[in-house]
Amino acid sequence: AENWTDVSALADVPDDDVTAVMVGGAELALYGVDGTVFATDNICTHGHARLCDGFLDGHEIECPLHQGKFDIRSGHATCQPATDPLRIFPVKIENGRVFVDLG
Ligand code: FES
Repeated sequence: AENWTDVSALADVPDDDVTAVMVGGAELALYGVDGTVFATDNICTHGHARLCDGFLDGHEIECPLHQGKFDIRSGHATCQPATDPLRIFPVKIENGRVFVDLG
């Protein structure tokens, strides 16, 4: 089922960087890339690190703890020691707000 939820103002999502928002008791990471917004879980699948503290390079987020990497479009782990995929969420922009489908 779709569950579109208003999570942020578009203006609060940084360009070519990552920020975190609290949604329903869990944190999501929001990434701004070339005017598009992507959303994933904020906690790394390898350990308890917050990806909002990591480094975004293009569409790849590097975990701040062990430098594992994920593609934020697919959630696929792209660099060890991260192996399990990151959960991703559909995003749409309406009237300057960012909506995430929490499913
Ligand atoms: Fe993210 Fe280890 S906690 S790579």
